[in-house]
Amino acid sequence: MKNYITTPIYYVNGEAHIGHAYTTFIADTLARYSRLQGNETYFLTGTDEHGQKIEEAAKKLGKPTQEFADEISASFKNLWNEFDISNDQFIRTTDVKHKIGVQAAFEKMMAKGDIYKDFYEGNYCVSCETFFPESQLMDGGCCPDCGRATTIVKEESYFFLLSKYEKPLMDYYEAHTDFILPKSRRNEVMSFVKGGLHDLSVTRTSFSWGVPVPTSLNDDKHVMYVWLDALLNYVTALGYGNDEAKMGFWPATTQLVGKDILRFHAIYWPAFLMSLDLPLPKRIGAHGWWTRDGEKMSKSKGNVVDPREVAQHYGVENLRYFMMREVPFGQDGDFSQRALIDRMNSDLSNDLGNLLNRVIGMSEKYSDFAIDSVDVLKYHTKEIDDAHAILGGLETYLNDLQLHRYLEELWKVFTIGNKAIEEHAPWVKIKEGRTDEALATVALVANLLAKAAVMLHAIMPKTTATIADALGFEITTKSYQALILNKELLQAFTIKKIPPLFPRVEEPLMPEAPKAMLDEVPAVPTTKTEDKKVSTVPEDGLITIDQFFQTSIKVGTVLEAEEVPKSSKLLKLKVDLGEESPRQIVAGIREYYSAQSLVGTQVCVVANLKPAKLMGMLSEGMILAAKDEDGLCLIRPETSRKSGCSVG
Ligand code: MSP
Repeated sequence: MKNYITTPIYYVNGEAHIGHAYTTFIADTLARYSRLQGNETYFLTGTDEHGQKIEEAAKKLGKPTQEFADEISASFKNLWNEFDISNDQFIRTTDVKHKIGVQAAFEKMMAKGDIYKDFYEGNYCVSCETFFPESQLMDGGCCPDCGRATTIVKEESYFFLLSKYEKPLMDYYEAHTDFILPKSRRNEVMSFVKGGLHDLSVTRTSFSWGVPVPTSLNDDKHVMYVWLDALLNYVTALGYGNDEAKMGFWPATTQLVGKDILRFHAIYWPAFLMSLDLPLPKRIGAHGWWTRDGEKMSKSKGNVVDPREVAQHYGVENLRYFMMREVPFGQDGDFSQRALIDRMNSDLSNDLGNLLNRVIGMSEKYSDFAIDSVDVLKYHTKEIDDAHAILGGLETYLNDLQLHRYLEELWKVFTIGNKAIEEHAPWVKIKEGRTDEALATVALVANLLAKAAVMLHAIMPKTTATIADALGFEITTKSYQALILNKELLQAFTIKKIPPLFPRVEEPLMPEAPKAMLDEVPAVPTTKTEDKKVSTVPEDGLITIDQFFQTSIKVGTVLEAEEVPKSSKLLKLKVDLGEESPRQIVAGIREYYSAQSLVGTQVCVVANLKPAKLMGMLSEGMILAAKDEDGLCLIRPETSRKSGCSVG
């Protein structure tokens, strides 16, 4: 059997964070498990390097775009090497082979009649050469970047006939109930498609950092839309449109994505594949998001968890175990050192580590480390049968991507082992001269540990290899077949004494994210200029229009408001700024406004300030107000505006 497993390809506009590590860990686990079963396996990851976003990020740093992409791509690649990720290929969308494959796909779609040329209409800023959606325009339809007036412009674009695939997609979802996991996400995708699909603009002429359309079109101002380019990596990596060397791995077995990019993978991607007459992947698994203190991680908030740092302090395999065990696949999870430490102490140190230490200790005392499974079935059939029932049922959890359930079940094998030791008390039997029985219990536990180590291998490869080595065997497809599929027991062997694998962790090992900067920002601005330390303001006190536009002020609608307990000044607000989720803003306005009076009203918010913590609560913006000796009043739009509308 052939298995092909992919991660999304990561944008090179920033370093890897813990969310990227999570997807990669899951994919690595699936790939390792597949190899353990003896399947031919191909595991792909890589970087997504085209598009305006990358071009601009490079420009900001004053670097040539390719050089910038090379650096960040290398940093992802190095991280996966440090983490011992077992990918067979690391694709870059700037690879020549990939570009050739993308152009071949474009030509095939054209030949199929699925691509046509038309016009893309929108608000265009000539100076910035950019289209802006209505919601981003400033008053009077001005450009949010340079402040100049925008014009409605039609840009020539090639379109993909997505609408044609509405029905085929729906039929496919209906017929393949396991195509999208978790199943709750399938409904979401289906109702989106049911709502109607518009054709997709798949080329751009407003920037050049992308794969040019095929030369046969004689239209070299067009580059491909970054998502068309990026999604095709899953087949160009196998040689699509090129040498086709590995196309035998297509269709992919599992394509892992975060929930935010599920639509691209569950709608556009299958439609592209249908257009290319290629089969669809067997399943798309959408995982949830890792948050920090319940907040979305982002560079601007300064709360991004660096996976390298966590791994350095806690060990990469402990982190892998934690991430997969802690959060049900598909749900969001909060990262905290405390939760990681708790998992390490209870699951790894107490349950697994202690059991291993006990076997080593008992075998040392009773049999000079010699273990023989000869009497295990005589005294412990029930325990062995129970363990086999658990181990045999694990694979379905993996197929459903329910990794936390997989691990939860697997841990029951350790419970069987610990219980057997308590119940059969080998130390009593030794005293009573019932040595065979005592040694059978020790051998039982050694066998349970060996079998569990095999099934834990894909999640903790090195740790389980050490356990196996102590128990006189190696984790390979052969031992998987023998110990798990054929339910065999270990041959007689001598235990290797190893130091405890999971020392307990008492205190957090890593400094918490720097919070100092979070405490600097006041809830409302003070009107006294002497209170502001704006070092960049020139002596004449004047700033340029560009400097002014560095501040993003937006209209927000207050959705919720409540008093902050023990504070006479603060109110905690939830404000809709037209983003995916409302912002929490803590404002010092309680003396002037009641919480209730604010709900449903609009305010003006400085939207690109570094978040601040006020009385331990995160504040993600600043509300504009004017204050003099008569009191304070909020600055609001005269008439209601759309949430998120720019002020300037
Ligand atoms: N380049 C696109 C993917 C193209 S695939 C053909 C992209 N890149 S990304 O770098 O922004 O994100 C890559 C993956 O990381 C996505 O699956 C995204 O969901 C995931 N995560 C980004 N932040 C995350 C968390 N905080 N938590 C978990 N995963 C998150 O999108």
